[in-house]
Amino acid sequence: MITTDSIQTLRAELQKARDQKKRIGLVPTMGNLHAGHLSLLSIAQRESDYWVTSIFVNPMQFGPQEDFLNYPRTLESDQKALSEAGCSALFAPTVNEMYPEGMINHCSVVPADIACGLCGDYRQGHFEGVATVVAKLFNIVQPDVAVFGQKDYQQLAVIRTLARDLNFTTRVLSGPTLRAQDGLALSSRNGYLAPADRETAAQLYRCICQIADRIKQDDCDVHKIVESGKESLEHSGFCVDYLEVRSANSLATPSRHDKSLVVLVAAYLGATRLIDNLEFDVIAPLSV
Ligand code: PAF
Repeated sequence: MITTDSIQTLRAELQKARDQKKRIGLVPTMGNLHAGHLSLLSIAQRESDYWVTSIFVNPMQFGPQEDFLNYPRTLESDQKALSEAGCSALFAPTVNEMYPEGMINHCSVVPADIACGLCGDYRQGHFEGVATVVAKLFNIVQPDVAVFGQKDYQQLAVIRTLARDLNFTTRVLSGPTLRAQDGLALSSRNGYLAPADRETAAQLYRCICQIADRIKQDDCDVHKIVESGKESLEHSGFCVDYLEVRSANSLATPSRHDKSLVVLVAAYLGATRLIDNLEFDVIAPLSV
């Protein structure tokens, strides 16, 4: 595996791979790799002959009150895990390599309306920062396929829209959310949880599973089910940003005849913001 922080070096390596007719895969990450990332890497490995992992904690997607400076940076252990997994190239640029002229006057990609609502309402500018850096990475690497996690459901939808609307030839693939035994979705931010909160954190997944089950059983009105889910999370100590049921993929407010749905949640436990989601199908018309 080669490791580089230079766009020029990476492009030269990629050219060699392309000359050998290799299909290029990309897994963009912010590092602090866990089993969830490694499962995305195995998808890239299956779908390409030469796969690049990028590790870049992108300042453009963090708000002023967010955890950019404290975001876990574990390059040495990440490098080891990637090399053991058979990654072809690790691209770990500095902020200066990605934004040599600074970020203030940098062009940015304004994502479509799918970035509004949900996390878009609570993290101003976040998806613009994500869309911009992903567009830059797609241009730098020009991958045949790129793999993203379903845990960041709205991010995945934003990136699919970006690839379609800006005519990137990259195929955007997704990998399922990996979970701890108690159901908590694996995330780099789980490491911030105070030990006392770690057990409570698993309630987030239990809550969205219960909501999906109750809606599938046509228990009662979707709004009431969601409100009672929110109350039980708040009762357990979560501070809920949102808990919502939407149409899967489009993220639109569901209508009576929607069959493929997703329940999405973002909530704080102490200072740690956790997100999760669950896709599910219904047979009977929804009570909305
Ligand atoms: O999901 C992430 O880790 C980041 O948002 C991404 C896609 C690597 C862009 O910085």
